[in-house]
Amino acid sequence: MKVIKKLKSIGFQSMILSSLDFAYTYLLYKKYNFDKWHLSAPKYSRTYRDVIITTVNQNQNLKNCVEIGCGLGHIIGHIKADKTYGIDLCSKVIEAATFYYRKRRHLSFLSGGFETLRDLPEDDIDALILPNIIFDYDANRIYETVSNLYQYKPFKMFIFDSYRQSPDFFEQLKDCFGDISYYDDGGDGDRRIFVLSLEEFSLVTKEEVVLSE
Ligand SMILES: C[S@@+](CC[C@H](N)C(=O)[O-])C[C@H]1O[C@@H](n2cnc3c(N)ncnc32)[C@H](O)[C@@H]1O
Repeated sequence: MKVIKKLKSIGFQSMILSSLDFAYTYLLYKKYNFDKWHLSAPKYSRTYRDVIITTVNQNQNLKNCVEIGCGLGHIIGHIKADKTYGIDLCSKVIEAATFYYRKRRHLSFLSGGFETLRDLPEDDIDALILPNIIFDYDANRIYETVSNLYQYKPFKMFIFDSYRQSPDFFEQLKDCFGDISYYDDGGDGDRRIFVLSLEEFSLVTKEEVVLSE
């Protein structure tokens, strides 16, 4: 039953690719000993990744793009930008991602948390992706998180996902950020992908935010 539901959600071809990738990811898991979550979510198994990749890649001429919480790099590894970075707290998964995507010359992986943004050589970021980390946050906490990240390095576009779907949540997000676009996750529909345009966000000053992670 679970297999049929998944098959419907991701399609036959993806199911085959997903099985092959699972075998490869398992070998990496044995070698690098990263968190088991990554085994449960091989490359082709999650439609939200495709939605994020397609959404970001609609923007032509991206100078750079960063994903925080990149895991094995199955989102950032497919983003078209002159320079891309994947950041993750777990050094073991970063080692594995560096190996997995070793042929992508414009892609670098760094181990660390949000503050690692400060270490990037660029002055600002075109697109910052934070998938599968803040999915249960309320609007105020999302605002605080965006503000904190922005202090580390300004960014023009912010992409995140959320399981929250109530009208109140949308209203509160709008209050915090103004107009905001969102997309269905392309699968079960249990989450949405939000895209914030932050051209005006530099108005936030350091005094206005509480730095916490
Ligand atoms: C659920 S996985 C998602 C991986 C990837 N984004 C994907 O969708 O395939 C979440 C990842 O975020 C990382 N993570 C969680 N909190 C983080 C933080 N504050 N800074 C950097 N990475 C974080 C975890 O180590 C984990 O690899």
